[in-house]
Amino acid sequence: DGGLATYDPGFVNTASCRSSVTFIDGDKGILEYRGYPIEQLAEQSNYLEVAYLLVNGKLPNKAEYEAWAHDVTYHTFVHENLKTFMQGFRYDAHPMGMLLASVGALSTFYPESRNIFDEESRALQIRRLIAKMPTLGAFAFRHAQGKPYVYPDNELSYTANFLSMLFKMSEPKYAADDRLVRALEILFILHADHEQNASTNAVRAIGSTQVDPYTAVAGGIGALYGPLHGGANEAVLKMLRRIGSVDNVPSFIEGVKAGDERLMGFGHRVYKNYDPRAKIIKKAADDVFEVTGINPLLKIAVELEKIALEDEYFVSRKLYPNVDFYSGLIYEALEFPPEMFTVLFAIPRTSGWLAQWLEMLNDGDQKIARPKQIYTGERGTQYVPMGDR
Ligand code: SDX
Repeated sequence: DGGLATYDPGFVNTASCRSSVTFIDGDKGILEYRGYPIEQLAEQSNYLEVAYLLVNGKLPNKAEYEAWAHDVTYHTFVHENLKTFMQGFRYDAHPMGMLLASVGALSTFYPESRNIFDEESRALQIRRLIAKMPTLGAFAFRHAQGKPYVYPDNELSYTANFLSMLFKMSEPKYAADDRLVRALEILFILHADHEQNASTNAVRAIGSTQVDPYTAVAGGIGALYGPLHGGANEAVLKMLRRIGSVDNVPSFIEGVKAGDERLMGFGHRVYKNYDPRAKIIKKAADDVFEVTGINPLLKIAVELEKIALEDEYFVSRKLYPNVDFYSGLIYEALEFPPEMFTVLFAIPRTSGWLAQWLEMLNDGDQKIARPKQIYTGERGTQYVPMGDR
């Protein structure tokens, strides 16, 4: 294996690295943030507290939490020039493309963020990014709706503020019941970090060149955008719509087994058992549908899961529902359009990306990312003038 499978400081951010942020046991379906089981955090915590835990390595006491919440709330606004920048996109620009560009652009507003070895500045940029992601995500959503952008209301909690910037003057269902706001809070907690996934690896690799955190997080957003990663939640809804009814599920499954389709929201590089997040999301979906009424696509999803968990093709490949299989159904019930689903993944994942970025900078062993390669091309070939080729 050319040593790719073992930890090697010279090749960190490639096949493996050391981290104490998130623990996953793929065979047992275990996920812990800083040692706390995800089930306890989803049940008892809130997203801003989990973000503090990931970044600082411990749960905050009351005074620490209040200071953290105040500091993050203080930074929810973005510069008016950045809002103007966002208004330059086409009317139908994908919100993830807008988010990617806007977060990258943020680095030009804070040149001091390039001083990544200044602890004060690092802590300030982390608070700024966690605070501004919902604002940028909501601006992108309002842009796509052709509606005026709504400024943050700093009297509201982190998640309620986000919903207000999205849906103000639209009378959405979520205002009907706190259970919907809580469902979004739980989804944010579940999406906050996930060890060395593709987008976190991108943030570490870009950050290892000692660039500013806005640029590194913009790279993470780019990786998350892909349908095999964060884009899967949007792809699941499109797949369920394409299947159209429970009666069509068996023929769709045959198409998957023939290699003509991919069962989006299923499978995982690490989990070879049920993704613990999928279990929690399924329960949250049941609570949401008590308020909004059952999404007809849920029946198709449940039937897909039932057949797949019994079918040899999926069982032999250890393919189970992952975090993306049911999350889109909740987002749809909260009246988000599919193109916003991956933005809803990027916003909470920002605290995990930043926790891992900070850990990388603090780990003296870390060097610039430089993946090993196994060369498979020609050697010693001689140049031939154009006329003789
Ligand atoms: C996320 O890494 C993370 O932690 C990511 C994430 C996070 O929180 O950051 O958990 C979030 O990205 C979840 C995954 C979301 N993506 C999807 O739901 C897209 C559908 N899933 C697959 O594309 C796939 O399962 C991956 C990309 C998630 C994992 O791919 P792997 O581990 O590289 O698996 P593989 O492609 O090597 O597949 C192994 C076998 C293959 O069959 P054979 O070639 O052996 O015959 O399983 C098959 C694959 O064809 N397979 C699937 C399948 N996933 C794998 N077949 C049908 N449907 C699928 N979904």
